[in-house]
Amino acid sequence: MTPATMPAISLASVPDQFDGAVGFTVAEGSDWTGALATMDAACDGAIKRTAEAAGFDGSKGKTLLVLGAGASAPARILLAGLGAEAPSALDLNKAGASLMAEVATRGDASLTLVPHDGSAASAAALLEGAAMRAYRFDAYRTRLKDDQKQSVTTLVGACSDPASGQAMMTDVSGRVSGNFLARDLKHEPANILYPVAFAQRLKDELEPLGVEVTIIDEAQMEKEGWGALLGVGQGSVRDSAVVVMHWKGASGGVHDDPVCFVGKGVCFDTGGISIKPAGGMEDMKWDMGGAAAVSGLMKTLALRKAKANVVGLVGLVENMPAATAQRPGDIVTSLSGQTIQVLNTDAEGRLVLADVLWHAQEKYRPRFIVDLATLTGAMLVALGHEKAGVFSNDDELANQLFAASEATGEYVWRMPLGQEYNKSLDCKEADMRNIGGGRWGGSITAACFLERFIQKGQKWAHMDIAGVVWTDKPKPMVGTGATGFAVRSLDKLVQDNYEA
Ligand code: BES
Ligand code: MN
Ligand code: ZN
Repeated sequence: MTPATMPAISLASVPDQFDGAVGFTVAEGSDWTGALATMDAACDGAIKRTAEAAGFDGSKGKTLLVLGAGASAPARILLAGLGAEAPSALDLNKAGASLMAEVATRGDASLTLVPHDGSAASAAALLEGAAMRAYRFDAYRTRLKDDQKQSVTTLVGACSDPASGQAMMTDVSGRVSGNFLARDLKHEPANILYPVAFAQRLKDELEPLGVEVTIIDEAQMEKEGWGALLGVGQGSVRDSAVVVMHWKGASGGVHDDPVCFVGKGVCFDTGGISIKPAGGMEDMKWDMGGAAAVSGLMKTLALRKAKANVVGLVGLVENMPAATAQRPGDIVTSLSGQTIQVLNTDAEGRLVLADVLWHAQEKYRPRFIVDLATLTGAMLVALGHEKAGVFSNDDELANQLFAASEATGEYVWRMPLGQEYNKSLDCKEADMRNIGGGRWGGSITAACFLERFIQKGQKWAHMDIAGVVWTDKPKPMVGTGATGFAVRSLDKLVQDNYEA
């Protein structure tokens, strides 16, 4: 397991002479001022002439690459349009990312980003987006040619007062590192990242940062009665495991009433005896995307020393067909004591989460629980690859999640719960069945199943991230592959609402 390397990021004053490539942001319709005007003057107006010839007017989302503008100028100068309105942090993230995407493999070792307003805050936002876009998973590419490799390894944000941005840089690099961890975990194939290997990776990553990491093994779960989770893993030669990650950062050392994040960690989902079709089954290596997000979040919180008490729990299993696998019709007793008839062994994520959610509530009495899971294919039918579904019994929590998601570009949309859906889980032979009666509204019945394991008064939100953990077409801050979805938005949820 080789982690992807994050580019080195720092803030500096605007230099007289640039090293490597340089990217400027441009407000639409503005006269060029500051460092960009200086650079253009040094090139006898070549940058402006190229921009005019190319029709680049600074409108939002547009980029321009200017090659060979002048003998003493950088060989590659880039412009990113911000539009006419004052840009948000997210706009700047996206601009930084688009600049990174333009030069990534062009041979420059470094990229300097210069914001239109010269501020440290804008430079930091550009750096965050650029660093996000620099993610590559090349661990198993032993024959990559030099021109296929990413050349840019250093990112510099040039601004007028770099010293004032140092605290921001700690947060930026914490968020990007956490996102990278989540992406690495999703990319690792299931022969490498099986449950116990995942658990060990979390110990290795997080213990040195001051996170308490506890592994609950199969023997302990058998003794305690985690029947729903263990039933899913029983067809695999790999042991199941639950990992509890506790970050005790609250000021004054008060560590009661934590906030909890719970992740589905199905390291591979074949469907089990209710086996999936072969086409596209390889995607199910990222059926641990919820667990990856929770793990990345814990890394971010620790790196930026969040002043909050946060517990992350992940349920790690492999869902395999085997002589020992659970069968359709089997009845299991969950940790909560409720019995479940397993009518489809491919509806396994909810079985894993049922026990982890119950444990989180019994042990930690959390202020809220957010669970994340690649739970249903139906989520892709409903919201596609653009937004994740949020199901919640608490309007305030749902609204906080929505605000954090809009600010970070990790978009979510609220979906319903309700008795009309819930009753389709009623069962003649056990307390409930693990699938609803028909195929419609499958994401909602899955959420209703989880709700049956939420105790009275417990604030809770479920995020079905099946459509957003992986992307085949480039998104602003992701090339292709794993997105690391929810690390940055959940970090913001904690930072904006739950830090003293
Ligand atoms: N991991 C899948 C859901 C999934 C499918 C995520 C496609 C991403 C892409 C989950 O375990 C599953 O198999 N769900 C079933 C539930 C059904 C049997 C009620 C599904 O969605 O088909
Ligand atoms: Mn499944
Ligand atoms: Zn699954």
